[in-house]
Amino acid sequence: MKDNSPIVAQTNASLSNYSQDDALKRKFKVASDLHPNNMQGTEFDSQMMQRCLQLARQALGRTSPNPLVGAVIVKDGEIVGEGFHPRAGEPHAEVFALRAAGEKAKGATIYVSLEPCNHHGRTPPCSEALVAAGVAKVVVGMVDPNPLVAGGGIARLQAAGIEVITGVETDACRKLNEGFIHRILHHRPLGILKYAMTLDGKIATTSGHSAWVTNQEARSTVHQLRAACDAVIVGGNTVRLDNPRLTSRQPEAHNPLRVVMSRTLSLPKQAHLWDTQVAPTLVLTEPGTNPDFQAFLQQKGVEVVELTPLTPEEAMVYLYDRGFCTVLWECGGILAARAIAGGAVQKVMAFIAPKIIGGNNAPTPVGDLGFTTMTQALSLERVEVRVVGGDCLVEGYLPIRH
Ligand SMILES: NC(=O)c1ccc[n+]([C@@H]2O[C@H](COP(=O)([O-])OP(=O)(O)OC[C@H]3O[C@@H](n4cnc5c(N)ncnc54)[C@H](OP(=O)(O)O)[C@@H]3O)[C@@H](O)[C@H]2O)c1
Repeated sequence: MKDNSPIVAQTNASLSNYSQDDALKRKFKVASDLHPNNMQGTEFDSQMMQRCLQLARQALGRTSPNPLVGAVIVKDGEIVGEGFHPRAGEPHAEVFALRAAGEKAKGATIYVSLEPCNHHGRTPPCSEALVAAGVAKVVVGMVDPNPLVAGGGIARLQAAGIEVITGVETDACRKLNEGFIHRILHHRPLGILKYAMTLDGKIATTSGHSAWVTNQEARSTVHQLRAACDAVIVGGNTVRLDNPRLTSRQPEAHNPLRVVMSRTLSLPKQAHLWDTQVAPTLVLTEPGTNPDFQAFLQQKGVEVVELTPLTPEEAMVYLYDRGFCTVLWECGGILAARAIAGGAVQKVMAFIAPKIIGGNNAPTPVGDLGFTTMTQALSLERVEVRVVGGDCLVEGYLPIRH
């Protein structure tokens, strides 16, 4: 459990841009708060919203199916209360900030990275708590992504005579919660395919050896990425060949649920993933496969679930039902191609190491997609490229299917 007590402001969090989803653009007439080039609020407002995001990130990987949210209350230019949403079922960020501010909340401005809720869920509506506390102004980072409830919290606050400003650091707020937004809009977790390849496009040598393609800094970036995800998926071959741990390697950080998809369950008895003291593991397989090995796994504390059919799509349906927002695909090319073809991947993070390994049969990051002409290539959108250590990270989104 993270400390949710107030912290004096530091405002150095920085997150990169995230463009708006078309569904949201269509829904809102108040497009000023959603347009990436139309920044609202003052420099101080931006700093306070960045502080909200910094607070929100303290619960990274722990809030699903809820979003990451941070809140800061400012009175006479000073922070008088702060909070973040620690996990589903616990109070929202605004409630922690109001508790910390006490009487000082009256007449104050509250900054919150997501529109305050206006409905009775597991906790009472935050809009009512803000009205009751007598805040004078609410600065909202992003509106609720659910088209059915979006704007409701803001409308309730305005009806109570509270000034509401939207559109402050909206892109950064949306980027932090891109998995949550995807879950709400598409009823599936956001699928991120991450792989590491050499400059000549190989993810392993011809013998299947792949430790390590990238440098330590790139691998640390992957550990941080895992801490932000609800689950990480590999296939049986990757377990057999790499014996991965798939943890976030940081003492306090969240570890995702480690998921193995295997049709055969012809897997080694000795594997890091069967050590469930370190992190939980789930094996997805087909009905009736290798009952003896299923019993062995269960005795090790590994969860086994049979899916019909065992496909990436069904895996994502199952993980959605478990309340997940973000799923990281760290598999090899065979399963990656199936995941892309099945619509289980929306975002790609490709680490490229300036190394050449060669090998006609060395595996590549994505197997056969059935394409025969270059015009069929999937072109990533919103592409960002950066250098991590000496390696390159190319990040982008697959076109949304309608
Ligand atoms: N550099 C990197 O980023 C990276 C990352 C991961 C892996 N690798 C390398 O990739 C190679 C393995 O590649 P791979 O593609 O065979 O990886 P994989 O991640 O093991 O995926 C293939 C396996 O997934 C399982 N599977 C379950 N349902 C499936 C379905 N519907 N369709 C297809 N497969 C399904 C099967 O396991 P069963 O055979 O057990 O039934 C199949 O053998 C290794 O050399 C490894 O080192 C590299």
